[in-house]
Amino acid sequence: MILMSVLDKKHIIVAVTGSIAAYKSADLVRQLGTLGAEVRVVMTRGACEFITPMTFQALTGNPVHIDLLDSSAEASMGHIELARWADTILIAPASANTLARLAAGMADDLLTTLCLATSAPLAIAPAMNRLMWQNEATQSNVARLQRRGYNCLGPASGEQACGEVGAGRMLEPAELVDGLSRLLTAASAMKGIKLMVTAGPTYEDIDPVRYIGNRSSGKMGYAVAAAAAHLGADVTLVSGPVALAPPPGVQCKKVRSARDMQRCVLSHIADVDIFIAAAAVADFRPTTFSEQKIKKGESEQLLTLTANPDILRTVADQVDGPFTVGFAAETQAVEQYARSKLVDKKLDMICANRVGGTEGGFESDKNALDLYWQGGGEALPMGKKTLLAEQLLVAVMRRYQYKIKPSN
Ligand code: CTP
Repeated sequence: MILMSVLDKKHIIVAVTGSIAAYKSADLVRQLGTLGAEVRVVMTRGACEFITPMTFQALTGNPVHIDLLDSSAEASMGHIELARWADTILIAPASANTLARLAAGMADDLLTTLCLATSAPLAIAPAMNRLMWQNEATQSNVARLQRRGYNCLGPASGEQACGEVGAGRMLEPAELVDGLSRLLTAASAMKGIKLMVTAGPTYEDIDPVRYIGNRSSGKMGYAVAAAAAHLGADVTLVSGPVALAPPPGVQCKKVRSARDMQRCVLSHIADVDIFIAAAAVADFRPTTFSEQKIKKGESEQLLTLTANPDILRTVADQVDGPFTVGFAAETQAVEQYARSKLVDKKLDMICANRVGGTEGGFESDKNALDLYWQGGGEALPMGKKTLLAEQLLVAVMRRYQYKIKPSN
């Protein structure tokens, strides 16, 4: 059996910017080509001060793209065509200046325009002096890019071209090839899967200024949506009121009440393969909504509540419905309660969340989950919700594939 690299026949744009590490990009391009990738190189004007386009042209056998408004280059492959052609774009080295321009969303040269015009996964390999890397401006630019879905490879620590020692060196070409391979493998792990996730609380209005709702930041559901999009799934996020920005590449539907959420879920559920209910849906709503603000009045007020529909149960009850994953927030007898919800709601998996402890839970960025399914389970230890979301999806995919093809 011939083992094929994930990079084989992949269309990769290596974008080279103005940094002394640009010389390493020649080897990077060569290594990618050896693994079967089709590489096109884009250079900034700054990069041409460090290495000549001729080097990359010779290594790739393709013309090097430099100018945005070069009519001869646009005639061979215009910037939009190039953006569509790419399976991935790796900016290596990524200078502090380029990171700042990308973070600002500028489109003042070919590279920045390409990055705005592509839907391919993007990666940056920063390379700069250690103080420039540590600078708050650079750190906040990188964080902004990561929030928009950019993958950051490196930098490494060590001796720098300027003679200083610290973090800021570009990763070695072999490490970048490895990082890119992992990125492309991940980007296709959930390809073809339609996933829907609910997140956040629901607000059940009492009058125009008051509501009842559950404590929920939406962080876990948003992290699941972001991770699934990262893994190549087609993601719909149905979100209650939260203070979070929708993750890149995710279709986000904003709702307010449990009934809004149910309507939205049911109208988009057709063809969904995996449904993950991370929302903290209010179990009850006020039986009547007062059009006018209720006055304080007496020292006691009676609020009559009506049960809300159970969205997860409705989805799990569907004939030929999706693979269903529920969450259970418990303060005690976690496994017992979680397993009884698994059976009662006919779920494929339940993620139990121990709440009320000192670490993890509602507003925290961290959490731990105990996963249960019929005949098995797995514990995901305390970690950042972003990492936990990825681990959860790996476990979900394993069970989902087993359900479709039990022989696996
Ligand atoms: N859920 C839902 N619709 C509701 C209520 C809950 O979709 N109206 C989903 C949640 O998103 C979560 C799971 O069901 O995935 C939680 O189940 P539930 O039995 O409601 O848990 P608790 O509210 O914690 O139940 P209990 O108060 O009985 O412990």
